[in-house]
Amino acid sequence: MSVELCGVSTAYGGVPMLREIDLTVADGEIVCVLGPNGAGKSTLFKTVAGLITPVAGTVTIMDTDVATTGTERIARLGVGFVPEGRRLFPGLTVADNIRLGHEAVRPDGADLPARLTAIGQLFPRVIERLGQAAGTLSGGEQAMVALARALIGEPKFVVMDEPSLGLSPKLIREYFDILRAIHREGRTILLIEQNAEMALSVASRGYVLARGRIVAADHAEALRASSVVRSLYFS
Ligand SMILES: Nc1ncnc2c1ncn2[C@@H]1O[C@H](COP(=O)(O)OP(=O)(O)OP(=O)(O)O)[C@@H](O)[C@H]1O
Ligand SMILES: [Mg+2]
Repeated sequence: MSVELCGVSTAYGGVPMLREIDLTVADGEIVCVLGPNGAGKSTLFKTVAGLITPVAGTVTIMDTDVATTGTERIARLGVGFVPEGRRLFPGLTVADNIRLGHEAVRPDGADLPARLTAIGQLFPRVIERLGQAAGTLSGGEQAMVALARALIGEPKFVVMDEPSLGLSPKLIREYFDILRAIHREGRTILLIEQNAEMALSVASRGYVLARGRIVAADHAEALRASSVVRSLYFS
């Protein structure tokens, strides 16, 4: 299992947020978590990443208990994170942003040139801009750099929080094509997304989060037809 949440609840200053979340992603799957603004998606992302400690329940990632491991070591287990809003260092070059992602996994820096070449196949436009300050890239280019930074350490499992936010329909399609490609390479993906249509077009299964609770969990086809998804998004 790449990730398993069992009865996970979190709180902000005593106010409950996530409530008794049960969620699994098996090795090789693409699973999405859908939910409207404020549903708790980013809270879930941070909880999986070990940045928020649950008040109840357990998060196990790559067979390791997140609570006792810490975020840095989780990356070294082979997990890549793409946070909401990309979180690049705007004053650093594209190359340095990607290098930092690599160092988080391989502190000795070994194999970076080979990895950059491999990444270049997926992101030719990123490689053209290695010397440019990340803050001067377009939003779409920044989204690609954030994904390249997560992939540079060759993660087996990638967790993403709203990667398509702010991208044009054309770029969203391009981005999701890349997700399909990295899945074909054998990577497991947990895709946290508000864009239900796109997420359900790549994921095999999904969960729907609303007000901190899982309100539906099913195969992508079933969720696409589900009245729960429709009422959350289209009413
Ligand atoms: N640090 C915090 N302190 C207090 N409340 C918080 C904190 N972070 C988030 N919240 C609250 O928790 C709820 C869920 O926030 P979260 O960011 O997880 O939602 P989301 O589903 O990611 O929303 P969006 O789609 O807008 O990104 C919101 O009501 C938010 O105001
Ligand atoms: Mg969010």
